Amino acid sequence: MGADWAAFRALFPTLEHKAYLASGSYGLLAKPVEAAFRQYLDDRLERGVDWGGWGARTEAVRAGMAALLNTDADEIAVTTSASDGINSLASAIDFSGPRNKVLLSNLEFPTGAQIWHAQAARGAVVEHVAEAQDGGIPLEHFAAAIDETTKLIQITHVCYRNGQRLDVGAITRLAHERGAMVLLDAFQSVGAMEVDVAALGVDFAVGGMLKYLLGTAGIGWLYVARRRLGLTPTASGWFAQADIDAMDIFANDPAPNARRFQTGTPPVVNSYAAEAGIALIREVGIGAIEARIRALTGEAMDRLTAAGCRLATPRDDARRGPQVAIRSADAPRLTGQLIERGVIVSSRDGNVRCMFHAYNDGSDIDALLDGLMAHRELLA
Ligand SMILES: Cc1ncc(COP(=O)(O)O)c(C=O)c1O
Repeated sequence: MGADWAAFRALFPTLEHKAYLASGSYGLLAKPVEAAFRQYLDDRLERGVDWGGWGARTEAVRAGMAALLNTDADEIAVTTSASDGINSLASAIDFSGPRNKVLLSNLEFPTGAQIWHAQAARGAVVEHVAEAQDGGIPLEHFAAAIDETTKLIQITHVCYRNGQRLDVGAITRLAHERGAMVLLDAFQSVGAMEVDVAALGVDFAVGGMLKYLLGTAGIGWLYVARRRLGLTPTASGWFAQADIDAMDIFANDPAPNARRFQTGTPPVVNSYAAEAGIALIREVGIGAIEARIRALTGEAMDRLTAAGCRLATPRDDARRGPQVAIRSADAPRLTGQLIERGVIVSSRDGNVRCMFHAYNDGSDIDALLDGLMAHRELLA
């Protein structure tokens, strides 16, 4: 039986008055996630302190993320942001030998790039893999860049600026053939499409909960493949220890699992929301969500193209995710005009970004097209 999309849509009250196409910026608040936030307040008022219960929430987030990524809870660290996870990972990597190069695709979100550039002080040589004319990065560009000095390559799954999707499996195979590790930034894909870290073969993956996962800001996740758990971060803390209750000030004894990439007190409040968001995604099913988003974005792209819009996102389903980026002569202004009409989009890099979730429907595409046609002069 297919999902009841009207019932799913009804869980998001904001859609009663907005055409919301900004889920890659921040996902909408669902009723069960709102209830989870209230539950936190009730628990605080009732119990005051509840470390046992809060620990269980963090573990539920870890287990939920593991299931969604097709991996084990042992391989997931619950972090406070994607940046937090990348920093912990970077702190574990030794750049002192001849294999000291970090490659970054030019489609990366700034934070990851900045963190790797910061590792230059620790001996990392950071280089970039450039995009082609069409804004994507073909495999040949990676093939030309990955060599015997490459330690790690960071690739984004779906680019936050133009919606281009990289061929993660093929890039990972190439990197592994040449002895390099792969970190996948899945922030713009997880929750909207299947991210099977086992099938993709990546060594590490990172993301947060506030976008397509329907949770909140202030909580993230880092996947570390079991074969990489021998890495020891120098960013550490009591929640990274093998025994959190050991309270040992004479040693650092990291957990044998991915919790060694955590640091201090976990994001307690945010765990409530993240747990509820992940549960909702899993209940509907990531396969059904991905198919729904593919159909909606495909319809939107066909109608936009027919209406004369130029798109920065490729139409090929294999080369894109939940985002449709529209070229504009003045993207900030066009975005402002659309928002004024209740069509919530955002702008980056000369594009108006429309980022769909499964709670969108054809009426949101209608509203987007009406708004764009009313401001045709701002299209590129
Ligand atoms: C692809 C991608 N990576 C990383 C980030 C930043 O993550 P955080 O703020 O959790 O460090 C974002 C935020 O928008 C993003 O879209």
